[in-house]
Amino acid sequence: MANLYRLTLQQRHRLPPVSTGVSSGYSTCLSCVSGVSKKSDCRRFKASRRLVVGLGAAFCSQFMTMAGTLGANSLIASARQRGAVEQVLKDVQWPEQFPFKEEYFQRFDESPDSLFYETPRFVTHIDDPAIAALTKYYSEVFPPSNTPGVSILDLCSSWVSHFPPGYKQDRIVGMGMNEEELKCNPVLTEYVVQDLNLNPKLPFEDNSFDVITNVVSVDYLTKPIEVFKEMCQVLKPGGLAIVSFSNRCFWTKAISIWTSTGDADHVMIVGAYFHYAGGYEPPQAVDISPNPGRSDPMYVVYSRKASTA
Ligand SMILES: C[S@@+](CC[C@H](N)C(=O)[O-])C[C@H]1O[C@@H](n2cnc3c(N)ncnc32)[C@H](O)[C@@H]1O
Repeated sequence: MANLYRLTLQQRHRLPPVSTGVSSGYSTCLSCVSGVSKKSDCRRFKASRRLVVGLGAAFCSQFMTMAGTLGANSLIASARQRGAVEQVLKDVQWPEQFPFKEEYFQRFDESPDSLFYETPRFVTHIDDPAIAALTKYYSEVFPPSNTPGVSILDLCSSWVSHFPPGYKQDRIVGMGMNEEELKCNPVLTEYVVQDLNLNPKLPFEDNSFDVITNVVSVDYLTKPIEVFKEMCQVLKPGGLAIVSFSNRCFWTKAISIWTSTGDADHVMIVGAYFHYAGGYEPPQAVDISPNPGRSDPMYVVYSRKASTA
C-alpha cells in the first residue's frame, strides 16, 4: 500500500522516479535559471530530492486522513482543478499534537543563510502575471493607502514587496537577509536584517502591526512555529497575516517537506503553521493563480489574529 501510494504521489506531483534524474513539475527559482545564483545549487538538488521523496509520501497520507471534507486521495488530485486548493483548509480535523517531524525542516544546504543571501539578487522570483495577481489581491485586502496608525510588516522581504503602486503607510517594515536589497525597496519606511532561522524572535512591540506579509519565502523557515507565534504576538488583535507562495524556490535552501510535496500540500503545511502556532482564527486558502498552466501559480494562506489572543 505504501509503495502504491508513493507511485500515486509521484505521478500526481510529477515527482521523478527515485532512481532517475529530475524532471518534476516543480520549477527552480527564476534567479537560479537566469544564472544569478550558483548553478551548483540546481544540480545538487537532485540528490536532496531523492532523499526526501519518502518523507513526502508519509506526510501526505497522514494529512489526507486529517482533511475532513476530502476523501483519502482527493487532496492532491484536487490541486489540479482551479480553485480546488481552497478546499484543503476547510473543516480540517487537526491532530492534537504537532505532527511534523524534526527532519521535515532539514535542508540540503545547512550552511549559514547569511552566506546564501550575501550577494543581492535584484530579480523577481515569480513571473509578471503572478506578481500582478498578488498585487491585485493586496489591493483588495489591505487597509487603504495612507490610513493613519496603520503599520505593515513584510517578512522575508527584498527589494520588492509587490504592494499596489503608490501604496503608503506611516510604517512599513521589511525584514530580510540582504541589506542592499532592503535599502532599495521603495515601499519600506524601515528595515531589519535578521536570520529568522537563527533568531525567530521579532524585534517589535506586541500588537503593533495591522498586516504581516510573507511572499514566496515561507518554505525557507526552519522554525516556522516559533516565527508564526511571533507574528501573532506582534499583530494587533484582528490583524491579518498573508502568506503567499508559488511552485518555485531555491531548492537547496527550502525545507525537505516542502521540496517533497506539491501545491495542495503546501497549503496544508502553511495552514498547519497557523493552527499549531495558536492565537489565530482558522486559516483559509485562496488560489489567485492568474492563468493556470500558463504562468506561475499563486496561492495565499491567510489568517487573522484572534481578537481574544
Ligand atoms: C525567494 S526570496 C523572496 C523575496 C521577496 N519576498 C520577494 O517576493 O521577492 C526569499 C527571501 O527570504 C528571505 N529569507 C530566506 N531565509 C531567511 C532567513 N533565514 N531569515 C530571514 N529571511 C530569510 C530572504 O531575505 C529572501 O529575500
